[in-house]
Amino acid sequence: MELFRIIGGHPLVGTVQISGSKNAALPQFAATLLSSEESILENVPDLSDIRFMAEIISELGADVEQLDQTTWKIKPLNITHCAPYELVRKMRASICLLGPLTGRLKKAEIPMPGGCVIGQRPIDLHIRALECLGANVELDRGIVKVNGTNLKGNRIFLGGRHGSTVTGTSNAIMAAVLAPGVTTIESSACEPEIIDLCNMLVKMGANIVGIGSHFLTIEGVSKLCGCTHKVIPDRIEAATYAIAAAITQGEITINGAVSEHLGSFINVMQESGVSIETKSPSQLKVSLSQEELNSLEIITLPYPGFPTDLQAQTCALACKSNGLSILTERVYPSRFMHVPELMRMGADIAMEGASSLVKGKNKLTGAPVMASDLRASAALILAGLAAEGETWVQRIYHLDRGYDSFEKKLQGLGGIVERIAEKDLPISYSP
Ligand code: EPU
Repeated sequence: MELFRIIGGHPLVGTVQISGSKNAALPQFAATLLSSEESILENVPDLSDIRFMAEIISELGADVEQLDQTTWKIKPLNITHCAPYELVRKMRASICLLGPLTGRLKKAEIPMPGGCVIGQRPIDLHIRALECLGANVELDRGIVKVNGTNLKGNRIFLGGRHGSTVTGTSNAIMAAVLAPGVTTIESSACEPEIIDLCNMLVKMGANIVGIGSHFLTIEGVSKLCGCTHKVIPDRIEAATYAIAAAITQGEITINGAVSEHLGSFINVMQESGVSIETKSPSQLKVSLSQEELNSLEIITLPYPGFPTDLQAQTCALACKSNGLSILTERVYPSRFMHVPELMRMGADIAMEGASSLVKGKNKLTGAPVMASDLRASAALILAGLAAEGETWVQRIYHLDRGYDSFEKKLQGLGGIVERIAEKDLPISYSP
């Protein structure tokens, strides 16, 4: 296993280029299966989750070829409806194959995704959507089996206890685009990644009205064609570098970020004393506008609310801010695995239900810490960059799922970060 060794206390300065969005690209790989024709996806990030998805759709029978680092060609002439457990279990997002397989083949068999360290991640809303479209769905020995022979357009209400569902909305859309008749999806997610998926599907010949809203109307078509589509930039990656600038008191120009996708985040940062200048629609310049950051108050919500995927990184920043910050999770109420690890670095954090109360201004000190999931890994690395001394972040395979070339990009900004194999650790290291 590999880990990151970080020497903290150096301001990050320079320019960083944002990669394509993981959460946009994953359902788009799945969407290519809706047509038997070839599709090309551009600006795809170089991530282990993407490689898993490519492997799964290749196992399903598609011809998959990586043309260069960011471009993939997929030709799914003949595909099967059964996704292999061994691959699917490695990545929750493989659930977004359910919609396209049901749409195109009128049947799907996908192993039920397991639990997840960020909390319970049920798929009841995905199933509800397919059932509303007339599919028969059953769970047989851990496999979600869908029979969509009688698929037809209908009204779907997709709101759940924690708001809308992102991949549930992708599945509903991808099943509906090839279902005869009209489907309406109420309380659909409207994340930029959903908009990007809809834009791709429209290029493939789908008929979708209301893109970007919570109410979609889809008129099913009998056939879709292939397309070429460029994945949108990763808003979570962009925001993570903005926090890196703030937490290290540096100055970073972020190229390729879409400020429009970051409204709630930019608002919270500016209130805290971080200067975020929009130099152009795709360039942000981030630095501190005051010496000490104000405390932060966030509540995570579906888009356009504050993203849950930035809660852990913001918690790291709150440790270096002045006063008491309150961070409340409304999407995944138990997504706080980073908290005890930050406390190992000297953070002063109390938990109160689904909120973390962070007493900032305390010094962070380097320590060996353990990453539990993708965004927690990023939070610990950010804390390590701001801490005094040396931090070791273990289990960075989580990070490789979602941050393209993280250590190389940080090194380009002057961060002292290296990836080393656990077997090369000095004897004095004790986790
Ligand atoms: N939910 C249900 N029933 C369902 C589906 C979801 O109750 O059938 C609940 C979930 O338990 C959660 C809430 O609804 O409380 C929202 O979950 P959602 O379905 O929107 O999450 P997701 O689609 O599984 C995507 C991202 C996550 C991101 C969430 C929320 C992808 C591949 N994943 O997950 O990304 O946190 O939306 O924005 O798009 C990450 O990138 O680190 C990550 C976890």
